[in-house]
Parts: sequence; structure tokens; C-alpha cells
Amino acid sequence: MSDTFDLDRLREEALAAIAAAGSLEELDAARGAVLGKRGTLTGVQRSLGGLPPARRRDLGAAVNAARAALTEAEAARRAELEAERDRVQLAAEAVDVTLPPRTPRRGSLHPVHETMEAMVDALIGLGFKAVTGPEVESDWFNFEALNMPADHPARTLFDTIYVESLVPDAPPRADGTTGVLLRTHTSPVQARTMLAQPPPVYVVVPGRTYRQDTPDATHLPVFHQIEGLAVDAGLSFADLRGTLAEFARALLGPATRIRLRPSYFPFTEPSCEVDASRGEGWLELLGAGMVHPNVLATCGYDPEAVQGFAFGIGVDRIAMLRHGISDLRLFADNDLRFLSAF
Ligand code: DAH
Repeated sequence: MSDTFDLDRLREEALAAIAAAGSLEELDAARGAVLGKRGTLTGVQRSLGGLPPARRRDLGAAVNAARAALTEAEAARRAELEAERDRVQLAAEAVDVTLPPRTPRRGSLHPVHETMEAMVDALIGLGFKAVTGPEVESDWFNFEALNMPADHPARTLFDTIYVESLVPDAPPRADGTTGVLLRTHTSPVQARTMLAQPPPVYVVVPGRTYRQDTPDATHLPVFHQIEGLAVDAGLSFADLRGTLAEFARALLGPATRIRLRPSYFPFTEPSCEVDASRGEGWLELLGAGMVHPNVLATCGYDPEAVQGFAFGIGVDRIAMLRHGISDLRLFADNDLRFLSAF
């Protein structure tokens, strides 16, 4: 290196580069270029050894002064750039603790389910036990066991959806069934329960039921029922009436009264329709009756030793009344705007 090296210019250029560094990376580069192992000032320092002593002393002092000034300038610029980096990072990571929290939305029971639970609860309170049965059912349980043999005219009232129907004169299968269907009511669970256990029986059966129907404001092909069955020694029509009066009060309020009208179901004798009222007008509530002796006998019970009463309620229509809904199809649409209103 020549003795005529312009140290002042080197120093000014390095100071300018440090001041111009816009980031810590640029500052590192500027520092390395002058003060690093291969930096320009370091190069000057190395060349001092080859100079005459007096010149070495003067230039050495100037190099040290330049190094001190550059180191100081670099540290000052570094502090500025670090402060800027921290400020940007803190701003990006800032948490506004005054924002309202995001609370998870609570779900609610479907109005049909809510009504079904209220009905089941009322009957559990009267000593009934909840049981369920299959929705895909054999025609034997759905019809035959309930006193409706293959040629019984009542079968045509049910608009049955068959999953599999055998040809009309096919012999019954080993299990006695002649077809597989979607249950048209919850009543087949009566037969299932009696075949599975000896009396006494006090069961309530909530469930989904199916009939061939075009959906409109008051019909859906998929709907819901609650079945009640009591079989015990000495049960009478008075027990049926008392149980249903209590059930209606639990469901609709303590001022509720019921009335019975004669009716017909193949699986009960006598049969009745039960209406309920809270003062203004009568609401058709359910079908009921004393379990037909044929049904008891088919299910292995002795009709001379035990008597039974049974009832079946459509849940969806009661849910409509309970929640003031005018179109049954709203229950099946699964529209959250509708469902979250409950
Ligand atoms: N299963 C009947 C229906 O779907 C309702 C019914 C009526 C059930 C009388 C009963 C009963 O248990 O005793 O229309």
C-alpha cells in the first residue's frame, strides 16, 4: 500500500455508508467492508509495518482515530436500526386486549326433539321406562303381530314404504316375515318388548316413523311418534284414562283436561281418540286403547292373566303447536336461521 493513501476520504466514505445503511444486514456489510478482516481500514493498518518509523507513527495514530470514530458511528446506527426493528415487530404482534372475546355459539335442541323429550320425561315421571326399536322393520312386527294379517284392510291406511316386498304368494320366511319396510308407526316396539320380557311392562318408545306422503305444511314422509305400553295384572280402561290425563297435564299444563272419543285400531279393543283442552277448543292429542287379546297372545302373554293399555302420539304436530310453527317442512329444512330461534 502506498504511503500516499487518502485516509480522510476512506473515513468519510465509510461514515457515509454506515449512515446510509437501511437495515442491520446493510450495516453489517458496510462495517465489514471497512473494519472487517479484509476491510479497507484493516488493509491500511496491515501496510503500516512497511513504512518509515515516523510516518508509521503518524499514520498509525490516524488509523486508530478513524477506527474509533467508525466503530462509534456503527454502534450508534446499529442502536437506531435495532430500535426500529423492535418497534415494527411489537406493532405486528400487538394484541388488543380490549376486543370482545369470540364466544362459541351454543347449539339448541331441535323443536321436535325438545317436544319428544318433554313427552318421554312426562311418562318417565309416571313410572314408564324408555326403550327404542329399529326403523327398518319386518311386516310381521309392523302389522301381523299387531292383529293386522296380510289381507287386513287397515294395512292400506298406512301408505307403507317397502324396503323389500316379496311376491304376493311367496311363503313366509323362516322368521315368519313376508317383507321388509320402514316402520309406519312405533307400535311394533310393543310386540318386540313383550316378546323380550315377561309382564309387567311399562314402556315409552320415542322414534322416527315413515309413510309415503308428499311433503306439505302438515305432512312429511318422515315423522315422529311416541308409543306407550302398559301391561300388568288388573289394568283397566280407568288406568288408561288416568295415565293419559296426567300425561296431558304434565305436557300442556296443570289446567289441561282430556276427553275420549270412540275410535278403531286393529291392535286395541276398545279404542279411542284422546283430545286435550286448556279452556278454548279441543286439540286432537293421540290414539289409544286396551291392548287387543290377540296381540297379547301373539306376544306370548296370557290375556286371561294380564291386561294392557297402549297409546300412540304424533310428535311433530304437537311440536308445531308448542312452538307456534305453521309449516311442518321447516322442521326438515335444517335452516340455522330457523333452528337457532329455539
Ligand atoms: N299406531 C297408531 C298410528 O300410528 C297410533 C296408536 C293408536 C298407537 C292406538 C297405539 C294405540 O298404541 O293404542 O296411527
